[in-house]
Amino acid sequence: MKELMQRLREASIQAVLAAGDVDDLEQLRVKYLGKKGELTGILRQMGKLSAEERPAMGQLANQLRGDIEAAIEARREELSRALLEKKLELETVDVTLPGETGRLGHKHPMYNVLDQIKDIFIGMGFEIVDGPEVELADYNFTKLNIDEGHPSREWTDTFYFTPDSRVLLRTQTSPMQIHAMETRPLPIRIIAPGRVYRKDEVDATHSPMFHQIEGMVIDKGVTMADLKATLNLVVEKIYGKGTVTRFRPHHFPFTEPSCELDIQCHKCGGKGCPTCKGEGWIEVLGAGMVHPKVLAGCGIDPDVYSGWAFGMGLERLAMGEYKITDLRLIFENDERFLRQF
Ligand code: DAH
Repeated sequence: MKELMQRLREASIQAVLAAGDVDDLEQLRVKYLGKKGELTGILRQMGKLSAEERPAMGQLANQLRGDIEAAIEARREELSRALLEKKLELETVDVTLPGETGRLGHKHPMYNVLDQIKDIFIGMGFEIVDGPEVELADYNFTKLNIDEGHPSREWTDTFYFTPDSRVLLRTQTSPMQIHAMETRPLPIRIIAPGRVYRKDEVDATHSPMFHQIEGMVIDKGVTMADLKATLNLVVEKIYGKGTVTRFRPHHFPFTEPSCELDIQCHKCGGKGCPTCKGEGWIEVLGAGMVHPKVLAGCGIDPDVYSGWAFGMGLERLAMGEYKITDLRLIFENDERFLRQF
């Protein structure tokens, strides 16, 4: 029996040392030390021994078990260290290589211009408000004193959602005037930038979607002088001090009186050039004193309160500022174009 154990010792230790991976080791453990393993097989023969021989043999068997276990453990450690080393070798990182830098984007040029406008108005105590692009005809037209027959209500001009012409894509930011008057406490000082939609074919100066900025002030004793002074200030902030303006009479159904504001062409000083298309003046916005009917329709007494409003196109402003000659460039989002700003 002693001999059997000696042979088992030699065979098992050799096999353990030769084991190629952790799975092999486990198989060897079962083979030699498991319940049906070889050591157990030998021990079963203990019965044949005399009572005097047994303790010594038992001790020998225990020692053998311990030695095989120790050999397995040692080999396991060796194997896992080798595995780790191999893994580390495979995953070598050269920390001195330059990293891959993600390219950082930036704000769209048109939104830079919008930020500038917002800053100017916030500095004068205005609030920035936002509203729905899907609008009721009531708000886009009727409450703005634009009556049923007005050409801008035509299906050829406006995107409608419902056959009864009740729900549409807003064609202007002016309905924000109504929302503000219906929901905000007086006095009101707001600007409302946002997208507007019209059935226009795309070309260098037209797009079915573009942006406007609406502005409105309602308070006691507000006059046309406030409108002119405020807008002159805004123009000077955008186009520089000393920019010459002209308030030209116009008609809008929701303002009375109405006007358009032009600036004298900064390129030619009013003589006429390609920038101003030979006019000497560049149209900037539409404005006027909020119509008493519009005020009254929103529950504001036109005998107590008055106000002025304006609406301007954001794209045109950005195109002027950045010398962009084609409106399509603003919306195409071609990186080669946008990267310039
Ligand atoms: N909503 C007008 C348009 O789209 C622009 C406008 C004109 C807005 C006069 C106003 C205003 O608030 O007072 O052409």
